[in-house]
Amino acid sequence: MSFDYKIRDISLAEAGRHQLRLAEHEMPGLMSLREEYAESQPLAGAKIAGSLHMTVQTAVLIETLTALGAEVRWASCNIYSTDDAAAAAVVVGPDGTPEDPKGVPVFAWKGESLEEYWACTNEILTWSGDDAPNMILDDGGDATMLVHKGTEWEKAGQVPPTTEADSEEFSVFKALVRSTMADDPQKWTKVGERIKGVTEETTTGVHRLYELARAGELLFPAINVNDSVTKSKFDNKYGTRHSVIDGLNRATDVLIGGKVAVVAGYGDVGKGVAAALAGQGARVVITEIDPICALQAAMEGFQVTTMDKACEYGDIFVTTTGNFDIITADHMARMKNKAIVSNIGHFDNEIDMAGLAKIPGIEKVEIKPQVHEWTFDKGADDERSIIVLSEGRLMNLGNATGHPSFVMSNSFANQTIAQIELWTNGNAYTDNGKPLVKTLPKHLDEKVARAHLNALGVELTELRKDQAEYIGVDVAGPYKPEHYRY
Ligand code: NAI
Repeated sequence: MSFDYKIRDISLAEAGRHQLRLAEHEMPGLMSLREEYAESQPLAGAKIAGSLHMTVQTAVLIETLTALGAEVRWASCNIYSTDDAAAAAVVVGPDGTPEDPKGVPVFAWKGESLEEYWACTNEILTWSGDDAPNMILDDGGDATMLVHKGTEWEKAGQVPPTTEADSEEFSVFKALVRSTMADDPQKWTKVGERIKGVTEETTTGVHRLYELARAGELLFPAINVNDSVTKSKFDNKYGTRHSVIDGLNRATDVLIGGKVAVVAGYGDVGKGVAAALAGQGARVVITEIDPICALQAAMEGFQVTTMDKACEYGDIFVTTTGNFDIITADHMARMKNKAIVSNIGHFDNEIDMAGLAKIPGIEKVEIKPQVHEWTFDKGADDERSIIVLSEGRLMNLGNATGHPSFVMSNSFANQTIAQIELWTNGNAYTDNGKPLVKTLPKHLDEKVARAHLNALGVELTELRKDQAEYIGVDVAGPYKPEHYRY
């Protein structure tokens, strides 16, 4: 079998396979789904275009989707997040060799340019011949945006001209769509018509989907995987609680204890990040706009203040808001010498990197890949510098390897179940033909949690029938009403 792919180095496949093997042991949710669906092959016929950080854990997800019958093409959803060994292992597959790969086409490597990034995203949505993907698995919504914007601009007959207000990334994106339209003026319209649905991994992507649905522009149904309890209350919180420290350590190895760590945002990710930094002995300061989350932070004993004040005394900064302009160029110019500035939210606009680069006299030096020192007023008596991780992109994937397998087993079991749901039961996710965005039903959320209990030696209490009646639930669950917040 021969197929196209684009990765850093296929000879890394064996090293990647060893890591996959160990990860499988830590991903009981995915492995139990492989067992449950080995015979019925519920994803037979599904052609999934996947855009999600190409890590070791994602490799186990990809091989779970193919084990359930799907055909898959994959790209990463961030220029820095690919594990090149994992990408090679997926291309070679469990039964192939680097000379005769038998796995899945992957288009991803660590350190892509923006042009390469969008070319890779285009690749996963471009299958040979008349073949086309019929499902999207997305993280952050870039693949979904390509289909939607492409369709919109094809209908208008042109891509809007690039303007000064466009970010560099949006200009590159527009250039890509211009070139696809030159080759085939109906490409994205046709792709959009064939897609049966998208399953979206993260807060930021889900936000984009609800906006499309509200505007009546959503082209196909979507499952919001992020808001499964076993996703956002685990991956976003306990995943970042682990990987934020990994990112800081691998990037700088600075002692965290005793430092002032400023965490912008106290949502699910902010809670995990703050807990991790406090666990290392940092004095944690939170910034928030939501009074409920601000009060939660205060109740945990954290100081809550504004970035305008904290920028002057923080040693370590981590943005977790999913919002833009959280740390401005002015904030960075006022920071302490050697302050560490990083973002763990999905996009790189939480920190104004473009504004930083425009400060007169600023100088940038690469300490090592994804770690840069920016010096203000070089040579002046009061010369100061700050350290920026991953150019403002998510540092836990840029500077480290993202979340550990066990927590991703929860997230990706939700992804797999969501793909099965949309592929086999898509009508349930429309209303009179109108595509909807929905979360998975609660019994499936509980199923994902259940699949992870044995591995941790959890002994679950069995609810008695009379007790179930007393609290008004079924013995087999769901155990909580929809409005319960965990
Ligand atoms: P969330 O909505 O639970 O939390 C974000 C918090 O930021 C909210 O409490 C909000 O009130 C606050 N916020 C918004 N604007 C703010 C501002 N100007 N100043 C201070 N606080 C502000 O979202 P969640 O789930 O915590 O996700 C946050 C981001 O992290 C998203 O972009 C998400 O996609 C991303 N994410 C990244 C992961 C990673 O591995 N790096 C894993 C999971 C999510």
